[in-house]
Amino acid sequence: MRKNRLMELSQEYRIMIIDDEPGIIDSIQALLNRNGYWCCGFTNPLEGLAEIQNNHYDLLVLDYFMQPVHGETVVEEIRKTNSELYILLLTGHKDLAPPISTIKSLDIQAYCEKSDRLDQLQLLIESGIKAVSQMRTIQQFRDGLQSILGAVPKIYQLQPIGTILEEILTQLLPMANSADAFILVDDIPGIEQGQGEKTNRSIFKGIGKYHVNIDEFPELLDHELMEAIGRARTEMTVINHPNGVIIPLGDETNAAIGAIYVSSIDADEGIKLLQIYARQAASSISNAFLHSLVNIKNEELNSTYAQLKIRYMDTIEVLRLAVDAKDEYTRGHSDRVAYYATKIGKLFGLPAHELEELRIAGIFHDIGKIGTADDILLKKQSLDKMEYEQIKQHPIKGAMILSAVSMFHDIVPIVRHHHEHIDGSGYPDGLKGDEIEMHARIISVADAFDAMMSDRHYRRHLSMDETKKQLSEGVDTQFDARVVEAFLNALSHDRELLDMITAARYDG
Ligand SMILES: [Fe+2]
Repeated sequence: MRKNRLMELSQEYRIMIIDDEPGIIDSIQALLNRNGYWCCGFTNPLEGLAEIQNNHYDLLVLDYFMQPVHGETVVEEIRKTNSELYILLLTGHKDLAPPISTIKSLDIQAYCEKSDRLDQLQLLIESGIKAVSQMRTIQQFRDGLQSILGAVPKIYQLQPIGTILEEILTQLLPMANSADAFILVDDIPGIEQGQGEKTNRSIFKGIGKYHVNIDEFPELLDHELMEAIGRARTEMTVINHPNGVIIPLGDETNAAIGAIYVSSIDADEGIKLLQIYARQAASSISNAFLHSLVNIKNEELNSTYAQLKIRYMDTIEVLRLAVDAKDEYTRGHSDRVAYYATKIGKLFGLPAHELEELRIAGIFHDIGKIGTADDILLKKQSLDKMEYEQIKQHPIKGAMILSAVSMFHDIVPIVRHHHEHIDGSGYPDGLKGDEIEMHARIISVADAFDAMMSDRHYRRHLSMDETKKQLSEGVDTQFDARVVEAFLNALSHDRELLDMITAARYDG
């Protein structure tokens, strides 16, 4: 595998040998071919010179003493038009080598005495190719930076945000040598709206195969891509995805405001350039938002946001159903957890928007299980350590999936922490007491209640009395005491709750 890559790389470079002795050309050519390099040879220096003047070459192995033209003359001719060709001079005996002043003035990068042993020549050619490769990288960077500098004034022009995003993508594609990309940003991050609620909008723009109507966009995302976008944003790091790369966009405090996805890009240098460009793009977006607060009406955004929200909910709902469909015993589990959690939230007098958060967190709390293998999820026997560790990943995976879009940001920590225990023995972060947000403590009780009341692959359901007893026994170890108390209280007299439990037909 490694060798193939080396061969591929070597074929990227064009090497020429000019020597009036065919035997020398043959042996160098054999050496280079054996090492995977492409090369051609000329015994007539004038023919070789003409070829170099018409076609691109990276490295020239050149004999010094030749007929009818001397190597020095060949170099002089080349240097008139080409200063970049790496020239390695083959000299005769060391007394016949050109003086160092000639080597310098002709810009010859290396020289080597002719001998039967080619080890030294091989080393010099390899270091020459390395130098050429480094020069290419520097050149790519220089060109890339130049195009960034060219693009920046355009993306900084004050225009509607949709136009800016389109401009960012248009400028980015040639830099990334890609045809498809999209950008997803939070609208006006951190700004309070009229009713004291934070905006939770995402704005999307795509190009190439992602140039779709906003309502079609979520269909192009699978859960793995969403998880990767969430991870890039959460960790503010570039994520390599099987078919592309995700670059987070950060504001001046390095907080995520969105992400750019570019398909099929694999060069490290290209990614570094994109990161530089992404920083410029992010500040142009922040800049535009700042101005839009004063200047730009968001009517268009309002309607696209509403559509996007509906489509996202649809997409996530499909993912959730896929989780439920994997496991018939848990079918309906998420809906019931959502119901119990909102019921508990009401008992605590939480405002409407927090009840809605609890409902959505309940629906999506186990969404991360979509990434768990069926044979583990459905296993009837007890799980081994490795399998259990995999299951324990689901809160993290779920949080990542939901992190992809800003509208779910408030429920991300709830999903991540729904298996934390009040005494710190839970997972994934081992949080304790008040470190676990109240909403996650509520979901934890609702989740445990429904799980105990349901049949599972590995056991029958518990009775209502046994379930209540288990909840009480978990107080101050697994569960929050106030949450359990409020829920047990409701279980003893709340008619609506009891009807819901009856309708759930836990007894089958
Ligand atoms: Fe869970």
